[in-house]
Amino acid sequence: MSPVHGNDRTIKDFGEQWLRYPDNEGYYGSLELFSDILSPFLKPEELRGRRVGEIGSGVGRIVNMILRSGAKHVIAVEPSQAFEVLQRNILEPKKVTCLRVTGDKLPAYANLDYVFSIGVLHHIPDPKPVVEAAFRALRPGAHFFIWLYGKEGNRFYLMFLLPLRAVAKHLPHFLLAALVWILYYPLLLYTRFCHLLPLPLKDYFLSTFEKMSPEKRRLIIYDQLNPAYAKYYTRQEAIKLLEDGGFINIRIHHRHGYSWTLIGTKPLV
Ligand SMILES: C[S@@+](CC[C@H](N)C(=O)[O-])C[C@H]1O[C@@H](n2cnc3c(N)ncnc32)[C@H](O)[C@@H]1O
Repeated sequence: MSPVHGNDRTIKDFGEQWLRYPDNEGYYGSLELFSDILSPFLKPEELRGRRVGEIGSGVGRIVNMILRSGAKHVIAVEPSQAFEVLQRNILEPKKVTCLRVTGDKLPAYANLDYVFSIGVLHHIPDPKPVVEAAFRALRPGAHFFIWLYGKEGNRFYLMFLLPLRAVAKHLPHFLLAALVWILYYPLLLYTRFCHLLPLPLKDYFLSTFEKMSPEKRRLIIYDQLNPAYAKYYTRQEAIKLLEDGGFINIRIHHRHGYSWTLIGTKPLV
């Protein structure tokens, strides 16, 4: 275990996951999804000509979304063995610096206009050093944007997920992949029913899950069951995460009723 994060196991789990799901096709890697993630705080075109950092890049879907938005340069941080896949997937390699380090090692004083961390901090037991690194890497007045799993809106889902995860996170890949197939068809049926009934997570299933290709839907299920550590944040915990890192003007959005997006600003002085 790393003394800073204690999330070596999670990094290993993700490395193995990305070697099995190495591409970013369809809606999963689209600018349409990026607009949805950024809304209501930012629009992709606001990244045009900007210097951007991304913490926890996986196999590069967010890096490529940032590039397609017109960013001038991206620093992409990914600590897992998926790093080589990340490098291969990048659309404009000359505009990207890839670093195989944990988020707390994002270079300080990089004078960045934005740092993004999408779906990463909730996998780190002590995320404070990562938030502080984002703070140091930004120029004064610049912004840190994060997406986190939410506790509110997920009560029903967590009743099923948490016992399942307690077992699933220990399974070898072939058993986990079999479990994903077992869950896949009932979830498709659930998505159909969401069209008819006000079911839990209806907004998520219709706005996101349904738009993914079959392979990416199975990746999403796998991704929920695989990582050793995942925390579901309350609104207050999410805000405190950025406050404790020194950010001001923090705004928070309950995205599709099940997760949080937040944006905070580094003070001018
Ligand atoms: C759910 S994935 C998100 C990937 C990408 N941001 C996306 O949305 O496609 C989480 C990623 O965070 C990475 N990660 C885990 N711990 C990390 C840490 N301490 N610092 C930086 N990245 C980390 C994992 O290796 C994994 O690739």
